Amino acid sequence: MKILVTGGAGYIGSHTCVELLNAGYEVVILDNLYNSSKKAVDRIEEITGKKVTFYENDMLDADAMESLFSKEKIDCVIHFAGLKAVGESVAKPLEYYKNNIQGTLCIVEAMRNHGCKNIIFSSSATVYGDPAFVPITEECPKGTPTNPYGWTKSMLEQILTDLHTADEEWNIILLRYFNPIGAHKSGLIGEDPKGIPNNLLPYVAQVAIGKLECVGVFGDDYDTPDGTGVRDYIHVVDLALGHVKAIDKIKEKPGVKIYNLGTGNGYSVLDVIKAFSKACGHEVPYQIKPRRAGDIATCYSDASLAKKELGWEAQYGIEEMCADSWKWQSMNPDGYKD
Ligand code: NAD
Ligand code: UFG
Repeated sequence: MKILVTGGAGYIGSHTCVELLNAGYEVVILDNLYNSSKKAVDRIEEITGKKVTFYENDMLDADAMESLFSKEKIDCVIHFAGLKAVGESVAKPLEYYKNNIQGTLCIVEAMRNHGCKNIIFSSSATVYGDPAFVPITEECPKGTPTNPYGWTKSMLEQILTDLHTADEEWNIILLRYFNPIGAHKSGLIGEDPKGIPNNLLPYVAQVAIGKLECVGVFGDDYDTPDGTGVRDYIHVVDLALGHVKAIDKIKEKPGVKIYNLGTGNGYSVLDVIKAFSKACGHEVPYQIKPRRAGDIATCYSDASLAKKELGWEAQYGIEEMCADSWKWQSMNPDGYKD
């Protein structure tokens, strides 16, 4: 079975390619390398000892998408490609809507033209907005996203669902990720943000290695056990394995399915800094700062549906997530750059 992984050179995509190859699938990667490096593709091959077919193209290039689907007989698409920086999306809404929405339309149009009607889409817990309840089940109503990035996820969920309404041959799995962190055990692939990281884990890792001075903790007056924000951090390899299980599900022709991929555990910002300090062997300095606009207090999943229907459950805890993230950071202090 041949899987097209859009955004396969990126953080979650590269880890998913490794697990797909390990599970015996043929992998084709499409990535324009806007937020990633060809080195990630080389390292996927190094880790697995298997070859992938790599197309360096923009998903907005309809001709290139036509040509890709004509050359490769794709059975299923795992669609990671997209822009994902929340703050940047507020400043550049048009770029985000164009890339994420128009790009997805190009992909699904090429899929339809070539009779490939199986897609697994990277959605996000962000679609729950400030969640109506926690732990968040898939029954929790979608909320109001606070930024264009979040809207692209919410709208794309609807667009893909509408495809199935119009044509029941489509099988669509919407995976709502919680907070992926960590890296492959080899230390060869991991998260390589451009510039100053926006997300907690890469920021903590860069303070730990001495590239940044001190972690700013965005608020300690939330209604949480220690006052700092609580999130459901999930090891990226667990997340990757969730996609392999989703492929098994799509073979059953399930129509439209939605699954949360999280651990079901919430950790505070201070818990994460403590766990990372243990992993790297020294205290990571931090300072309490004002709250960040748009943040919510608490977000963690009820992941029991994925366990019941996909037979998937996260295996790794916060210690391994931090240890593996530290291994990647210390083996590659400048990410994929030379
Ligand atoms: P990433 O930026 O590392 O990977 C995305 C990849 O898509 C990059 O390699 C980028 O070059 C590629 N890409 C972007 N636009 C493209 C285009 N027009 N044509 C071809 N390739 C293009 O991000 P990630 O963290 O691996 O996230 C993967 C997916 O998961 C994204 O859709 C993201 O929104 C979603 N997601 C991520 C998180 C998270 O915290 N990392 C949480 C929830 C959902
Ligand atoms: N935080 C800090 N300091 C930092 C960065 C973050 O204290 O320097 C705090 C935040 O306030 C929050 C927690 O750490 O309480 C996690 O923040 P992240 O930015 O790492 O992650 P978010 O939960 O805000 O958002 C992430 C992705 C979204 C995605 C969401 C759910 O950025 O795109 O997870 O999957 F939608």
